[in-house]
Amino acid sequence: MGLQGTVGFASKILINNSSGILQGVLNLGTSENKLCFDLIEKRLTRPSCKKCIAPHLLQYSNVQGTESFREEIAKFLTEYARAPKALNPEHIVVMNGCCSIFAALSTVLFDPGDGYLIPTPYFGGVNPDMWLYGEVRPVHVPLDSKVSEAESCPFQLTVKKLEAALQNAMEQGIRVRALILINPHNPLGDIYPAHLLKECLDFAHRHKLHVIVDEIYMLSVYDDSTFTSVLSLNPPDPEKIHFMWGFSKDFVMCGMRVAALHTRNEEVRLALNQLASFHSCPGPVQYILSQLIADREWINKTFLPTNRRRLREACHILVDGLTSLGIPVLRSSAGLFVWADFRKFLVTQTFEAEMELWWKFIAEKLYISPGGAFYCCEPGWFRLVFSDSADKIHLGIQRLAMILQAYVSEATPLDDQGKVTLALDSVSTDSDSDSSDERTNSLEEISEESQ
Ligand SMILES: Cc1ncc(COP(=O)(O)O)c(C=O)c1O
Repeated sequence: MGLQGTVGFASKILINNSSGILQGVLNLGTSENKLCFDLIEKRLTRPSCKKCIAPHLLQYSNVQGTESFREEIAKFLTEYARAPKALNPEHIVVMNGCCSIFAALSTVLFDPGDGYLIPTPYFGGVNPDMWLYGEVRPVHVPLDSKVSEAESCPFQLTVKKLEAALQNAMEQGIRVRALILINPHNPLGDIYPAHLLKECLDFAHRHKLHVIVDEIYMLSVYDDSTFTSVLSLNPPDPEKIHFMWGFSKDFVMCGMRVAALHTRNEEVRLALNQLASFHSCPGPVQYILSQLIADREWINKTFLPTNRRRLREACHILVDGLTSLGIPVLRSSAGLFVWADFRKFLVTQTFEAEMELWWKFIAEKLYISPGGAFYCCEPGWFRLVFSDSADKIHLGIQRLAMILQAYVSEATPLDDQGKVTLALDSVSTDSDSDSSDERTNSLEEISEESQ
Protein backbone atom coordinates (compact mmCIF):
# COMPACT_ATOMS: atom_id res chain seq x y z
CA MET A 1 0.00 0.00 0.00
CA GLY A 2 1.50 3.39 -1.01
CA LEU A 3 1.50 6.54 1.10
CA GLN A 4 -1.88 7.73 -0.17
CA GLY A 5 -3.37 4.30 0.42
CA THR A 6 -1.96 4.01 3.91
CA VAL A 7 -3.03 7.46 5.07
CA GLY A 8 -6.41 7.12 3.36
CA PHE A 9 -6.93 3.72 4.99
CA ALA A 10 -6.12 5.13 8.44
CA SER A 11 -8.50 8.04 7.96
CA LYS A 12 -11.30 5.74 6.78
CA ILE A 13 -11.00 3.55 9.86
CA LEU A 14 -11.20 6.65 12.04
CA ILE A 15 -14.06 8.22 10.10
CA ASN A 16 -16.11 5.05 10.21
CA ASN A 17 -16.02 5.16 13.96
CA SER A 18 -18.73 7.59 15.02
CA SER A 19 -16.86 9.01 18.01
CA GLY A 20 -13.78 9.66 15.91
CA ILE A 21 -11.72 7.66 18.37
CA LEU A 22 -11.05 4.06 17.49
CA GLN A 23 -9.34 2.04 20.17
CA GLY A 24 -8.17 5.29 21.65
CA VAL A 25 -6.65 6.83 18.52
CA LEU A 26 -7.03 10.59 18.72
CA ASN A 27 -8.06 11.95 15.34
CA LEU A 28 -6.56 15.36 14.56
CA GLY A 29 -6.29 14.33 10.93
CA THR A 30 -9.77 14.46 9.42
CA SER A 31 -10.93 17.89 8.32
CA GLU A 32 -14.26 18.04 10.16
CA ASN A 33 -15.59 20.92 12.21
CA LYS A 34 -16.93 19.56 15.50
CA LEU A 35 -17.21 22.93 17.21
CA CYS A 36 -20.78 23.91 16.32
CA PHE A 37 -22.97 20.80 16.37
CA ASP A 38 -24.97 22.42 19.17
CA LEU A 39 -25.96 25.38 16.96
CA ILE A 40 -26.79 23.21 13.97
CA GLU A 41 -28.81 20.76 16.04
CA LYS A 42 -30.90 23.59 17.47
CA ARG A 43 -31.47 25.16 14.05
CA LEU A 44 -32.35 21.90 12.30
CA THR A 45 -34.85 20.81 14.91
CA ARG A 46 -37.00 23.92 14.59
CA PRO A 47 -40.62 23.15 13.62
CA SER A 48 -40.22 24.61 10.08
CA CYS A 49 -37.69 21.88 9.25
CA LYS A 50 -40.26 19.18 9.96
CA LYS A 51 -42.06 20.19 6.75
CA CYS A 52 -39.32 18.38 4.84
CA ILE A 53 -41.54 15.31 4.70
CA ALA A 54 -43.96 16.96 2.24
CA PRO A 55 -45.01 14.59 -0.62
CA HIS A 56 -43.39 16.64 -3.41
CA LEU A 57 -40.04 16.39 -1.61
CA LEU A 58 -40.34 12.61 -1.50
CA GLN A 59 -40.86 12.34 -5.25
CA TYR A 60 -38.40 12.54 -8.15
CA SER A 61 -37.33 16.09 -8.82
CA ASN A 62 -35.02 18.10 -11.03
CA VAL A 63 -31.64 16.32 -10.93
CA GLN A 64 -29.84 19.66 -11.17
CA GLY A 65 -31.32 20.45 -7.72
CA THR A 66 -34.82 21.61 -6.81
CA GLU A 67 -35.66 25.05 -8.15
CA SER A 68 -36.28 26.50 -4.71
CA PHE A 69 -32.95 25.18 -3.36
CA ARG A 70 -31.02 26.54 -6.35
CA GLU A 71 -32.75 29.90 -5.90
CA GLU A 72 -31.69 30.02 -2.26
CA ILE A 73 -28.14 28.95 -3.10
CA ALA A 74 -27.92 31.64 -5.80
CA LYS A 75 -29.06 34.32 -3.34
CA PHE A 76 -26.77 32.97 -0.63
CA LEU A 77 -23.68 32.87 -2.86
CA THR A 78 -24.45 36.28 -4.36
CA GLU A 79 -24.35 37.74 -0.86
CA TYR A 80 -21.56 35.77 0.84
CA ALA A 81 -19.24 35.52 -2.16
CA ARG A 82 -19.98 39.18 -2.97
CA ALA A 83 -20.92 38.65 -6.60
CA PRO A 84 -21.31 42.00 -8.41
CA LYS A 85 -24.59 40.83 -10.03
CA ALA A 86 -27.22 38.44 -8.71
CA LEU A 87 -26.25 34.87 -9.64
CA ASN A 88 -28.65 32.97 -11.85
CA PRO A 89 -30.14 29.83 -10.19
CA GLU A 90 -30.02 28.17 -13.62
CA HIS A 91 -26.22 28.33 -13.40
CA ILE A 92 -26.19 26.23 -10.23
CA VAL A 93 -25.89 22.43 -10.16
CA VAL A 94 -26.42 20.67 -6.82
CA MET A 95 -24.57 17.43 -6.09
CA ASN A 96 -23.75 15.18 -3.15
CA GLY A 97 -20.51 16.87 -2.16
CA CYS A 98 -17.60 18.68 -3.79
CA CYS A 99 -15.92 15.31 -4.37
CA SER A 100 -18.76 14.40 -6.73
CA ILE A 101 -18.48 17.76 -8.47
CA PHE A 102 -14.77 17.17 -9.09
CA ALA A 103 -15.53 13.66 -10.37
CA ALA A 104 -18.26 14.90 -12.70
CA LEU A 105 -16.11 17.76 -14.01
CA SER A 106 -13.29 15.32 -14.70
CA THR A 107 -15.36 13.58 -17.34
CA VAL A 108 -16.97 16.73 -18.74
CA LEU A 109 -13.99 19.08 -19.13
CA PHE A 110 -11.27 16.54 -19.93
CA ASP A 111 -10.41 13.51 -22.01
CA PRO A 112 -8.67 10.57 -20.33
CA GLY A 113 -4.94 11.25 -20.04
CA ASP A 114 -5.37 15.05 -19.92
CA GLY A 115 -3.86 16.98 -17.04
CA TYR A 116 -4.84 19.73 -14.63
CA LEU A 117 -2.44 22.16 -13.01
CA ILE A 118 -2.56 22.23 -9.25
CA PRO A 119 -0.19 23.92 -6.76
CA THR A 120 1.28 21.55 -4.15
CA PRO A 121 0.64 20.88 -1.33
CA TYR A 122 -3.12 20.38 -1.89
CA PHE A 123 -6.08 18.40 -0.57
CA GLY A 124 -5.14 14.89 -1.73
CA GLY A 125 -8.76 13.85 -2.30
CA VAL A 126 -8.65 15.75 -5.60
CA ASN A 127 -6.53 12.98 -7.13
CA PRO A 128 -9.00 10.08 -6.81
CA ASP A 129 -11.91 12.42 -7.53
CA MET A 130 -10.35 13.37 -10.86
CA TRP A 131 -8.93 9.96 -11.68
CA LEU A 132 -11.62 7.39 -10.94
CA TYR A 133 -14.13 8.58 -13.54
CA GLY A 134 -12.08 10.82 -15.78
CA GLU A 135 -8.59 9.29 -15.71
CA VAL A 136 -7.26 12.80 -15.52
CA ARG A 137 -3.91 13.40 -13.86
CA PRO A 138 -2.43 16.19 -11.80
CA VAL A 139 0.35 18.39 -13.12
CA HIS A 140 1.97 19.65 -9.96
CA VAL A 141 3.09 23.22 -9.44
CA PRO A 142 5.52 22.57 -6.57
CA LEU A 143 5.61 25.20 -3.84
CA ASP A 144 8.13 25.06 -1.00
CA SER A 145 8.87 26.88 2.21
CA LYS A 146 11.93 28.76 0.96
CA VAL A 147 11.60 32.51 0.95
CA SER A 148 13.46 35.12 -1.01
CA GLU A 149 13.25 38.83 -1.66
CA ALA A 150 10.80 38.26 -4.47
CA GLU A 151 8.74 35.67 -2.57
CA SER A 152 8.26 36.73 0.99
CA CYS A 153 5.84 33.95 1.96
CA PRO A 154 6.51 30.25 2.26
CA PHE A 155 4.57 28.12 -0.25
CA GLN A 156 3.86 31.20 -2.35
CA LEU A 157 2.14 30.64 -5.67
CA THR A 158 3.32 32.78 -8.58
CA VAL A 159 2.38 32.91 -12.23
CA LYS A 160 6.00 32.16 -13.07
CA LYS A 161 5.66 28.80 -11.32
CA LEU A 162 2.39 28.10 -13.16
CA GLU A 163 4.07 28.92 -16.47
CA ALA A 164 7.02 26.64 -15.68
CA ALA A 165 4.79 23.70 -14.71
CA LEU A 166 2.65 24.14 -17.83
CA GLN A 167 5.72 24.29 -20.05
CA ASN A 168 7.12 21.18 -18.42
CA ALA A 169 3.85 19.28 -18.94
CA MET A 170 3.71 20.29 -22.59
CA GLU A 171 7.26 19.06 -23.10
CA GLN A 172 6.16 15.71 -21.67
CA GLY A 173 3.24 15.61 -24.08
CA ILE A 174 0.55 16.13 -21.43
CA ARG A 175 -2.40 18.19 -22.60
CA VAL A 176 -3.34 20.48 -19.73
CA ARG A 177 -6.97 21.53 -19.78
CA ALA A 178 -7.52 23.29 -16.45
CA LEU A 179 -6.09 24.94 -13.40
CA ILE A 180 -7.48 23.92 -10.00
CA LEU A 181 -7.29 26.38 -7.12
CA ILE A 182 -8.40 25.73 -3.54
CA ASN A 183 -9.21 28.98 -1.76
CA PRO A 184 -9.10 29.25 1.26
CA HIS A 185 -6.37 26.71 0.96
CA ASN A 186 -6.29 23.17 2.27
CA PRO A 187 -3.81 22.32 3.86
CA LEU A 188 -2.05 25.71 4.14
CA GLY A 189 -5.00 27.50 5.75
CA ASP A 190 -4.22 30.72 3.90
CA ILE A 191 -6.10 32.86 1.41
CA TYR A 192 -5.13 33.95 -2.09
CA PRO A 193 -4.89 37.73 -2.31
CA ALA A 194 -7.21 39.26 -4.93
CA HIS A 195 -4.34 40.35 -7.19
CA LEU A 196 -2.90 36.82 -7.31
CA LEU A 197 -6.28 35.34 -8.07
CA LYS A 198 -6.69 37.79 -10.97
CA GLU A 199 -3.20 36.99 -12.25
CA CYS A 200 -4.08 33.28 -12.19
CA LEU A 201 -7.27 33.93 -14.17
CA ASP A 202 -5.29 35.96 -16.73
CA PHE A 203 -2.75 33.15 -16.96
CA ALA A 204 -5.52 30.60 -17.56
CA HIS A 205 -7.10 32.86 -20.18
CA ARG A 206 -3.77 33.25 -22.03
CA HIS A 207 -3.45 29.46 -22.21
CA LYS A 208 -7.16 28.75 -22.86
CA LEU A 209 -7.48 26.77 -19.63
CA HIS A 210 -10.59 26.17 -17.58
CA VAL A 211 -10.32 27.21 -13.93
CA ILE A 212 -11.95 25.09 -11.22
CA VAL A 213 -12.09 26.99 -7.95
CA ASP A 214 -12.91 25.06 -4.78
CA GLU A 215 -14.08 27.53 -2.11
CA ILE A 216 -15.40 24.97 0.36
CA TYR A 217 -13.82 26.90 3.30
CA MET A 218 -15.15 30.29 2.12
CA LEU A 219 -16.93 31.13 5.40
CA SER A 220 -14.40 29.53 7.72
CA VAL A 221 -12.13 32.60 7.77
CA TYR A 222 -11.44 33.29 11.44
CA ASP A 223 -9.10 36.28 11.41
CA ASP A 224 -9.34 39.76 9.89
CA SER A 225 -8.14 38.74 6.44
CA THR A 226 -10.25 39.73 3.47
CA PHE A 227 -11.36 36.77 1.45
CA THR A 228 -11.95 37.29 -2.27
CA SER A 229 -14.19 34.80 -3.98
CA VAL A 230 -13.74 34.16 -7.68
CA LEU A 231 -17.46 34.94 -7.97
CA SER A 232 -16.75 38.53 -6.98
CA LEU A 233 -14.35 39.10 -9.88
CA ASN A 234 -14.92 39.86 -13.54
CA PRO A 235 -12.86 37.07 -15.11
CA PRO A 236 -11.60 37.45 -18.67
CA ASP A 237 -13.32 34.21 -19.70
CA PRO A 238 -16.41 33.72 -17.48
CA GLU A 239 -17.52 30.60 -19.35
CA LYS A 240 -14.35 28.81 -18.29
CA ILE A 241 -14.67 29.51 -14.55
CA HIS A 242 -16.28 26.75 -12.48
CA PHE A 243 -16.82 27.50 -8.80
CA MET A 244 -17.75 24.99 -6.11
CA TRP A 245 -18.80 25.34 -2.50
CA GLY A 246 -20.53 22.97 -0.06
CA PHE A 247 -22.02 22.49 3.38
CA SER A 248 -19.35 20.09 4.68
CA LYS A 249 -17.00 22.61 6.25
CA ASP A 250 -18.63 26.03 6.57
CA PHE A 251 -21.85 24.57 7.99
CA VAL A 252 -20.09 21.71 9.79
CA MET A 253 -22.19 19.06 8.02
CA CYS A 254 -19.94 16.78 6.00
CA GLY A 255 -22.42 13.98 6.67
CA MET A 256 -25.16 15.80 4.75
CA ARG A 257 -23.24 15.39 1.47
CA VAL A 258 -24.41 18.55 -0.30
CA ALA A 259 -22.47 20.97 -2.50
CA ALA A 260 -23.13 23.32 -5.38
CA LEU A 261 -21.32 24.17 -8.58
CA HIS A 262 -21.73 27.53 -10.29
CA THR A 263 -20.88 27.66 -13.97
CA ARG A 264 -22.00 30.04 -16.70
CA ASN A 265 -21.08 27.44 -19.31
CA GLU A 266 -24.28 25.95 -20.66
CA GLU A 267 -22.61 23.05 -22.45
CA VAL A 268 -20.85 22.05 -19.24
CA ARG A 269 -24.11 22.32 -17.27
CA LEU A 270 -26.00 20.16 -19.73
CA ALA A 271 -23.32 17.50 -19.56
CA LEU A 272 -23.18 17.69 -15.75
CA ASN A 273 -26.94 17.28 -15.56
CA GLN A 274 -26.61 13.95 -17.34
CA LEU A 275 -24.37 12.81 -14.48
CA ALA A 276 -26.28 14.61 -11.74
CA SER A 277 -28.80 11.80 -11.43
CA PHE A 278 -26.00 9.61 -10.03
CA HIS A 279 -25.03 12.34 -7.58
CA SER A 280 -28.25 14.03 -6.56
CA CYS A 281 -29.33 15.03 -3.05
CA PRO A 282 -32.53 13.91 -1.29
CA GLY A 283 -35.46 16.34 -1.56
CA PRO A 284 -35.94 16.61 2.24
CA VAL A 285 -32.26 17.48 2.67
CA GLN A 286 -32.50 20.20 0.01
CA TYR A 287 -35.57 21.60 1.76
CA ILE A 288 -33.90 21.69 5.19
CA LEU A 289 -30.78 23.35 3.83
CA SER A 290 -32.88 25.93 1.94
CA GLN A 291 -34.43 26.89 5.27
CA LEU A 292 -31.03 27.10 6.84
CA ILE A 293 -29.33 29.34 4.27
CA ALA A 294 -32.40 31.58 3.95
CA ASP A 295 -32.17 32.38 7.65
CA ARG A 296 -29.75 35.34 7.46
CA GLU A 297 -30.59 36.44 10.99
CA TRP A 298 -29.37 33.10 12.39
CA ILE A 299 -26.36 32.93 10.02
CA ASN A 300 -25.15 36.47 10.64
CA LYS A 301 -25.98 36.89 14.30
CA THR A 302 -25.55 33.40 15.70
CA PHE A 303 -23.82 30.87 13.50
CA LEU A 304 -21.02 32.74 11.73
CA PRO A 305 -19.79 34.86 14.66
CA THR A 306 -19.86 31.86 17.02
CA ASN A 307 -18.21 29.50 14.56
CA ARG A 308 -15.47 32.02 13.77
CA ARG A 309 -14.80 32.71 17.44
CA ARG A 310 -14.63 29.00 18.27
CA LEU A 311 -12.34 28.32 15.30
CA ARG A 312 -10.04 31.18 16.32
CA GLU A 313 -9.88 30.00 19.93
CA ALA A 314 -9.28 26.38 18.97
CA CYS A 315 -6.59 27.42 16.51
CA HIS A 316 -4.82 29.41 19.24
CA ILE A 317 -4.85 26.45 21.60
CA LEU A 318 -3.23 24.21 19.01
CA VAL A 319 -0.72 26.79 17.81
CA ASP A 320 0.29 27.66 21.38
CA GLY A 321 0.75 23.97 22.15
CA LEU A 322 2.85 23.37 19.04
CA THR A 323 4.89 26.49 19.74
CA SER A 324 5.59 25.26 23.26
CA LEU A 325 7.04 22.10 21.68
CA GLY A 326 9.22 24.17 19.36
CA ILE A 327 7.20 23.20 16.29
CA PRO A 328 6.87 26.12 13.86
CA VAL A 329 3.46 26.70 12.34
CA LEU A 330 2.56 28.57 9.18
CA ARG A 331 0.34 31.59 9.75
CA SER A 332 -3.23 30.60 8.89
CA SER A 333 -6.42 32.59 8.43
CA ALA A 334 -9.02 30.04 7.42
CA GLY A 335 -9.98 26.39 7.38
CA LEU A 336 -9.94 23.87 10.18
CA PHE A 337 -6.22 23.07 10.42
CA VAL A 338 -2.67 24.33 10.62
CA TRP A 339 0.37 23.36 8.59
CA ALA A 340 3.25 22.58 10.89
CA ASP A 341 6.94 22.06 10.33
CA PHE A 342 8.29 18.83 11.86
CA ARG A 343 11.40 18.78 9.68
CA LYS A 344 13.80 18.96 12.58
CA PHE A 345 12.38 15.67 13.89
CA LEU A 346 13.10 13.74 10.69
CA VAL A 347 16.03 11.37 10.84
CA THR A 348 16.75 12.23 7.20
CA GLN A 349 15.01 14.83 5.06
CA THR A 350 13.06 12.20 3.10
CA PHE A 351 9.47 11.08 2.73
CA GLU A 352 10.48 7.68 4.16
CA ALA A 353 11.52 9.46 7.36
CA GLU A 354 8.26 11.45 7.32
CA MET A 355 6.29 8.19 7.14
CA GLU A 356 8.44 6.66 9.88
CA LEU A 357 7.49 9.57 12.13
CA TRP A 358 3.83 9.26 11.07
CA TRP A 359 3.82 5.57 12.06
CA LYS A 360 5.23 6.53 15.47
CA PHE A 361 2.28 8.91 15.91
CA ILE A 362 -0.20 6.21 14.86
CA ALA A 363 1.46 3.61 17.13
CA GLU A 364 1.01 6.00 20.04
CA LYS A 365 -2.62 6.68 19.08
CA LEU A 366 -2.34 10.06 17.44
CA TYR A 367 -3.57 10.54 13.88
CA ILE A 368 -2.35 13.63 12.03
CA SER A 369 -1.78 13.97 8.29
CA PRO A 370 1.69 13.84 6.75
CA GLY A 371 2.63 16.34 4.05
CA GLY A 372 3.16 13.53 1.54
CA ALA A 373 -0.60 12.92 1.59
CA PHE A 374 -0.93 16.46 0.18
CA TYR A 375 1.82 15.93 -2.40
CA CYS A 376 4.03 18.42 -0.60
CA CYS A 377 7.43 18.53 -2.32
CA GLU A 378 9.28 19.02 0.98
CA PRO A 379 9.24 16.19 3.55
CA GLY A 380 8.54 16.96 7.20
CA TRP A 381 5.31 18.99 7.09
CA PHE A 382 2.13 17.77 8.83
CA ARG A 383 -1.45 19.05 8.87
CA LEU A 384 -3.17 19.12 12.25
CA VAL A 385 -6.90 19.75 12.59
CA PHE A 386 -7.97 21.98 15.49
CA SER A 387 -11.76 22.16 15.06
CA ASP A 388 -12.45 19.91 18.04
CA SER A 389 -12.81 20.28 21.80
CA ALA A 390 -10.01 21.95 23.79
CA ASP A 391 -9.59 18.70 25.75
CA LYS A 392 -8.79 16.76 22.60
CA ILE A 393 -6.32 19.37 21.39
CA HIS A 394 -4.54 19.38 24.77
CA LEU A 395 -4.46 15.60 24.70
CA GLY A 396 -2.98 15.75 21.19
CA ILE A 397 -0.23 18.11 22.36
CA GLN A 398 0.55 15.86 25.32
CA ARG A 399 0.81 12.83 23.05
CA LEU A 400 2.98 14.73 20.59
CA ALA A 401 5.34 15.78 23.39
CA MET A 402 5.61 12.24 24.64
CA ILE A 403 6.08 10.68 21.19
CA LEU A 404 8.62 13.23 19.98
CA GLN A 405 10.59 13.02 23.20
CA ALA A 406 10.88 9.26 22.86
CA TYR A 407 11.56 9.48 19.13
CA VAL A 408 14.27 12.10 19.51
CA SER A 409 16.08 10.06 22.19
CA GLU A 410 15.87 6.94 20.03
CA ALA A 411 16.70 8.54 16.66
CA THR A 412 19.03 11.48 17.27
CA PRO A 413 22.73 11.19 18.04
CA LEU A 414 23.35 12.19 21.69
CA ASP A 415 25.21 15.40 20.73
CA ASP A 416 22.21 16.78 18.84
CA GLN A 417 19.51 16.00 21.39
CA GLY A 418 19.90 19.10 23.55
CA LYS A 419 18.09 21.68 21.41
CA VAL A 420 15.15 19.47 20.54
CA THR A 421 14.67 18.12 24.07
CA LEU A 422 14.67 21.60 25.56
CA ALA A 423 11.57 22.61 23.64
CA LEU A 424 9.79 19.33 24.34
CA ASP A 425 10.39 19.61 28.08
CA SER A 426 8.58 22.90 28.23
CA VAL A 427 5.25 21.48 27.03
CA SER A 428 2.36 23.03 28.90
CA THR A 429 -1.29 22.08 28.86
CA ASP A 430 -2.39 25.32 30.48
CA SER A 431 -5.31 26.45 28.34
CA ASP A 432 -5.43 29.84 30.06
CA SER A 433 -2.12 31.03 28.74
CA ASP A 434 -2.70 33.45 25.90
CA SER A 435 0.50 33.26 23.98
CA SER A 436 -1.03 33.77 20.56
CA ASP A 437 1.39 36.65 19.94
CA GLU A 438 4.21 34.19 20.23
CA ARG A 439 2.95 32.13 17.30
CA THR A 440 5.90 30.96 15.31
CA ASN A 441 4.73 32.11 11.97
CA SER A 442 7.13 34.24 10.07
CA LEU A 443 9.44 33.02 7.41
CA GLU A 444 12.56 33.79 9.36
CA GLU A 445 11.29 31.80 12.31
CA ILE A 446 10.32 28.90 10.11
CA SER A 447 13.66 28.70 8.38
CA GLU A 448 15.61 29.25 11.59
CA GLU A 449 13.72 26.58 13.47
CA SER A 450 14.08 24.03 10.76
CA GLN A 451 17.82 24.02 10.28
C1 LIG B 1 -10.59 21.47 -0.33
C2 LIG B 1 -11.62 20.41 -0.20
N1 LIG B 1 -12.47 20.19 -1.21
C3 LIG B 1 -13.42 19.23 -1.13
C4 LIG B 1 -13.55 18.44 -0.02
C5 LIG B 1 -14.63 17.39 0.03
O1 LIG B 1 -15.85 18.04 0.11
P1 LIG B 1 -17.25 17.28 0.23
O2 LIG B 1 -17.43 16.84 1.63
O3 LIG B 1 -18.25 18.35 -0.15
O4 LIG B 1 -17.24 16.17 -0.75
C6 LIG B 1 -12.68 18.62 1.06
C7 LIG B 1 -12.76 17.77 2.26
O5 LIG B 1 -11.87 17.70 3.07
C8 LIG B 1 -11.71 19.64 0.98
O6 LIG B 1 -10.86 19.89 1.98
